[in-house]
Amino acid sequence: MGSGIISIMLAKKFKNAKFIAVDISQDALDIAKINIDKFGLEQRIELRLGSLLEPITEKIDYLVSNPPYIEDGVMLESNLDYEPQNALFGGEIGDEIIKALLDEVLKRDIKFFSCEMGYDQKDKITHYLRNREGRELKFYKDLANFDRGFTLKA
Ligand SMILES: C[S@@+](CC[C@H](N)C(=O)[O-])C[C@H]1O[C@@H](n2cnc3c(N)ncnc32)[C@H](O)[C@@H]1O
Repeated sequence: MGSGIISIMLAKKFKNAKFIAVDISQDALDIAKINIDKFGLEQRIELRLGSLLEPITEKIDYLVSNPPYIEDGVMLESNLDYEPQNALFGGEIGDEIIKALLDEVLKRDIKFFSCEMGYDQKDKITHYLRNREGRELKFYKDLANFDRGFTLKA
């Protein structure tokens, strides 16, 4: 979640949809609230504190995530110094949070999941989903032509 930018942009584009935005950080939720209020979207974006999908018991039609996905301990450029660690580092390998979300998507049978990922995680994610049943996995690149995300569709 973070600043709330993803839910705000989606709420502006899909005017009849409602959103639940989750973050593990209360500070991030506080910032998101300021931004959501600024755009007058507080009736359509509900903020919840917690880890991954744990605070959501409702049926999810479409899950969108920009999770932390960098390997713990990697030295980053100094322009990322201001970022909180839990916004960047995804675990010992880096893709642990993405895989945990994929497990939830399959367990809850969420029909659509779009997610940002690291430029070097395409093969690992493809391998992780090798036994997916009847789901379509499509990767996309960022503007610098790096692999940067995927959509998993039932
Ligand atoms: C890369 S940032 C997302 C930035 C967001 N797209 C924005 O523009 O602000 C990752 C976010 O995931 C949150 N986060 C980290 N681990 C989490 C977890 N287990 N469950 C929920 N949120 C988590 C962090 O607090 C951070 O706000």
